[in-house]
Amino acid sequence: MTKKDIKNELEYIEKVKNINEGRNLKYNILTMGCQLNENDSEKICGMVEKMGYTKTDEILEADLVIYNTCCVRENAEEKLFGKLGEVKKLKEAKGTIIAIGGCMMQEKHIVEKIKKSYKYDVIFGTHTLQNFPKDLYNAIMQNKKITDILDIDGEIIEGLPIKREDNIRASVTIMNGCNNFCTYCIVPYVRGRERSRNPEDILDEVKKLAQDGYKEITLLGQNVNSYMRVERERGEAPEEINSFAKLLRAVNEIEGIEKIRFISPHPKDFTDDVIEAIKDCEKVSKFIHLPLQSGSTKVLKLMNRKYSKQQYIDLVEKMKNKIPNVKFSTDIIVGFPEETEEDFEDTLDVVRKIKFEQIFMFIYSRRVGTPADKMDGQIPEEIKHKRFDRLKDLYEEMLKEINKEYIGKTLDMLVEGYSKTNKKLLTARTDTNKVVVFEGEDSLIGKTVPVEIISEHMWYLKGRV
Ligand code: SAH
Ligand code: SF4
Ligand code: F3S
Repeated sequence: MTKKDIKNELEYIEKVKNINEGRNLKYNILTMGCQLNENDSEKICGMVEKMGYTKTDEILEADLVIYNTCCVRENAEEKLFGKLGEVKKLKEAKGTIIAIGGCMMQEKHIVEKIKKSYKYDVIFGTHTLQNFPKDLYNAIMQNKKITDILDIDGEIIEGLPIKREDNIRASVTIMNGCNNFCTYCIVPYVRGRERSRNPEDILDEVKKLAQDGYKEITLLGQNVNSYMRVERERGEAPEEINSFAKLLRAVNEIEGIEKIRFISPHPKDFTDDVIEAIKDCEKVSKFIHLPLQSGSTKVLKLMNRKYSKQQYIDLVEKMKNKIPNVKFSTDIIVGFPEETEEDFEDTLDVVRKIKFEQIFMFIYSRRVGTPADKMDGQIPEEIKHKRFDRLKDLYEEMLKEINKEYIGKTLDMLVEGYSKTNKKLLTARTDTNKVVVFEGEDSLIGKTVPVEIISEHMWYLKGRV
């Protein structure tokens, strides 16, 4: 994949910095959406801080407010309109600059609505992140509103400054876009076609992170395990590291990194080489996210998921046989069009069969422009909610059982810091993403220590060092 030359765009960082010189300006950013958006926000923060702004959590203090938006479900969209209503007063009172970016800005009807009814200075999209300094510069210098959206699939952008949220765990985006077009999903329309970063750039980034003391890396992509697939099909993939399995093996070799995770994979791309790589690479987490979406073969077909109920179950079995102690988390949508009681029972059946450690549950949300939005057989809200509650009840019931299996076990865990609710306790997470709280010295923070689990409390576990 050819990389875009962004030298010209980055020169605007210096230009904005010069205008801001000596003014002690502050910015506030709100990120809505998934880890990919969070990683984009880290790049936005990287650029903004180089332009002379310092971060504040207090929006009233901010001279620049940035919203990085998500549109995967309706509630994500509504959140933005609420925020824009609030920030309007701030703009009127002190001229706060308002910038709105992210997935939602790739939807034409939304941008129209904002232009018509809300206040803003800069609108940028998922393919124009690198233009943000230039857009901000023009908005300030020309005192006018800037809308900078590209519909074409973005190219690969390397070399944006980055300000990371954490100093132990880091996310590394390895591919952008999605070609799967699940019929409910807006992501392919707002993130464009699949394109993978070059392996050298990824490995350089991870090596640099290891040198800076990072211990855990999460590889990110909307369809992360199809890394380099389209490039391979086009005969454009690099010779050596031309697949997700090979990338995992290469990252596994990097000294200093202790744990490797990846999100979000698609079941259809769990090819044997990927399963082998997970098994062989000691640093790769054996806690795998495997989005189910529905347990009904009929619904899966309508969703364009490319696997049946049985194929999903078989895949889990195969992975269990090959990878000792593998555990799973999943995503499930309830109330997809045409979902009958029987179809929903199929979903519950899979949940009973596969003891998922974690389930992210969603009520189907109609998205403008997606095929499912135009399907007959939309399910009434009331039924959707009832099914959601039934799934939640089953999940909680199973969770109690699953949590009990942890009691008495001693697990190695990276100590993250203090508990948010009780500053006297330290927290860590199991490999399966369960929060564990325990007493201990400050000096343990950032170290991997054995913790014995002593009790379970549904959403967290208690332990002792
Ligand atoms: N690329 C990832 C993430 C997609 S969005 C993946 O394929 O797993 C994260 C989750 O949101 C999806 O897995 C799906 O469960 C849910 N989701 C996506 N579109 C949705 C919609 N229209 N309504 C409800 N949930 C949706
Ligand atoms: Fe959406 Fe499906 Fe792509 Fe995931 S794989 S981003 S659910 S279209
Ligand atoms: Fe949302 Fe965009 Fe992620 S729509 S889920 S922020 S890719």
